[in-house]
Amino acid sequence: MRAHPAGALHGDVAPLSHAPLRVPADLNALDPSVWPLGAERRDGALVVGGCDVRDLAAEFGTPAFVVVEPDFRERCRAHRAAFGEDADIYYAGKAFLTRAVARWIDEEGLSLDVSTGGELHIALAAGFPADRILLHGNNKSVDELRAAVTAGVGRIVVDSDIEIARLAHIADALGVTQRVLVRVTVGVEAHTHEFIATAHEDQKFGFSLASGAALEAARRVLMLPSVELVGLHSHIGSQIFDTAGFDVSAHRVVQLLATIRDALGVTLPELDLGGGFGIAYVSDDDPAPPADIAKQLRAIVARECESSGLPMPRLAVEPGRAIAGPGGVTLYEVGTLKDVDGIRTYVSVDGGMSDNIRTALYDANYTVTLASRTSDAPAMLTRIVGKHCEAGDIVVRDAWLPDDLAPGDLLAVAATGAYCRSMASNYNTVPKPPVVAVTNGEPRLLLRRETVDDLLALDMA
Ligand SMILES: Cc1ncc(COP(=O)(O)O)c(C=O)c1O
Repeated sequence: MRAHPAGALHGDVAPLSHAPLRVPADLNALDPSVWPLGAERRDGALVVGGCDVRDLAAEFGTPAFVVVEPDFRERCRAHRAAFGEDADIYYAGKAFLTRAVARWIDEEGLSLDVSTGGELHIALAAGFPADRILLHGNNKSVDELRAAVTAGVGRIVVDSDIEIARLAHIADALGVTQRVLVRVTVGVEAHTHEFIATAHEDQKFGFSLASGAALEAARRVLMLPSVELVGLHSHIGSQIFDTAGFDVSAHRVVQLLATIRDALGVTLPELDLGGGFGIAYVSDDDPAPPADIAKQLRAIVARECESSGLPMPRLAVEPGRAIAGPGGVTLYEVGTLKDVDGIRTYVSVDGGMSDNIRTALYDANYTVTLASRTSDAPAMLTRIVGKHCEAGDIVVRDAWLPDDLAPGDLLAVAATGAYCRSMASNYNTVPKPPVVAVTNGEPRLLLRRETVDDLLALDMA
């Protein structure tokens, strides 16, 4: 694993760090580290999950999200095998969740992390076993907490004093004991973009370890009979390529386990290290395989526990992007091309920041290819932009594409399975795209395309 440079600041215009240094040797090539499992070209067109994207576009329209189900499942299995039976893998549903996805997670033996009442509702509607659900959130409403306790969710990660009181009251009124973890802010700056690094002190999540708030939260939970403290939780950020951050956070959180043992007389059995494992959005990204991450995390926690004289706790992790991201692809149709003389060609597609906000929000980088055919034309430097009324409506900041690209061509953007459909909006009254699962040449609609009538139905006046 190598350290990953922090992203450029939000709002940068064409930072040099994003300019491709060299024209790719073959514009039609598909780097297997970026494209879904089994992606290939047949008859020139991109084929994912055994389906020709031209057929998918004809049947489901564009833009469309395509999810390669075997890729998603394979990543579940890889994480399961890597962490072993004595660890819990909570798929972070915020990355992408539908009822079908919840069932895939269940069938692959993973648990589920939900962070709102909405995600909980989908999981329960899919029949996901409540005792394998963990509920997150820094501002869970009373209704959300009550729904979770009533459903019998296995764990609730408490995030504030007010919530501890609310939860204890709800569990008490329902006559149950709710298992909880305390979310600890360990003061680690993960090597990632500021907006997705979540364990430094000055942010909204968790109880500060440094100030003593986390120890106090543990003390409060232990005093309340309707909540049972089973462990600590820490999540240091997302798209992390480097275990250095986990090393520091595990050190600090295990120290807190030892302090809780010494000061409060309780040895907590569980430790949840959160998610954040990075994926390859572009060929230069070099994520470690789950087996390496698992080995390193286990070794770090074992070392820390040994030096504090603690038994090894049951580990939990919460990968979202690393499971859902790589198997997803977005298909767009090219609408217009505009040559901005001497700089680049702007290629406008029929979606944009409403289906992928990550480029505007985090300055994220993506890989795009001409998907409906191959081309031997020379490369041109492009910027793939959407159809929204916003100059920052950029899907791919810098991309080399063949210079015979024309309206009607299909483009595919790789690694859009996580945090794209789940972060989609209706900006400019653009209906959200459908999500199509593909397996062995068979497409299956998971989410249908929204229509303007769906949106109009909300308009009550
Ligand atoms: C608490 C928590 N767990 C897990 C995740 C999943 O992160 P990732 O999808 O990067 O693995 C997040 C992401 O924001 C999170 O906040």
